[in-house]
Amino acid sequence: MRKKIVAGNWKMNTDLNQALDLAREIRLSNYDKSATLIIIPPFPFLYSIVEATNNSVIQVGAQNCSKNKNGAFTGEVSAEMLNSVGVKYVIVGHSERRTYFKETNQELAEKIKECLSNKLIPIYCCGELLEDRTNENHFEVVKTQLSEALFHLSPDQMKGIIIAYEPVWAIGTGVTASPEQAQEMHQYIRQFIAKKFGDTIANSISILYGGSCNAANAKELFALPDVDGGLIGGASLKAVDFVAISNSF
Ligand code: PGA
Repeated sequence: MRKKIVAGNWKMNTDLNQALDLAREIRLSNYDKSATLIIIPPFPFLYSIVEATNNSVIQVGAQNCSKNKNGAFTGEVSAEMLNSVGVKYVIVGHSERRTYFKETNQELAEKIKECLSNKLIPIYCCGELLEDRTNENHFEVVKTQLSEALFHLSPDQMKGIIIAYEPVWAIGTGVTASPEQAQEMHQYIRQFIAKKFGDTIANSISILYGGSCNAANAKELFALPDVDGGLIGGASLKAVDFVAISNSF
């Protein structure tokens, strides 16, 4: 059985008090205890949020990490640092980082290696631009994102990866992928992984959907055979919505 996962990417939102309030409200809510709930606040609040969610099933993730181990990289945060404050997951390759910070698949491959050497589980994001879909190039784009960043891994390492399919045209736009589009791509991703790593590994990896997923559409998306949960942006900033999404399996 694959893990059901709902991860909330808070992006560059909240201050410390708002972040703590949000984490505490989620903790006190009636969320689905059989699902893995991950909250992903901005860097400065990670340690406080780890403490605020201690002894609960809520896990904490970071939005990014450095591809370097340590040293003279002003402003960067290493995977080892994240591990040392109790972070368990890291988003790698979110489309906003690919677009605004020009992150390449090759750099993302290095970040994934850093995460794995520091016992952090990468949530690797892939997904096409609107023009890729219009040009019917979306499968090719996702295939390249997967093979260039993940296919150097050993089968054992691959087992520990979470994938998030996030069509860029659906992120923050209110336009969600249709159930048909989501299932088609998730199935494609799983089959592509199976070709390289075999069916057992491909069938054990959780593939999350992201892009305007909310309390109103989560049930339909999570019911799809190859969708194992969601990476939630906007709707993760309200505890009631995030918890309702976690109860949508
Ligand atoms: P959204 O963002 O839910 O606000 O569309 C998803 C994401 O960027 O992970």
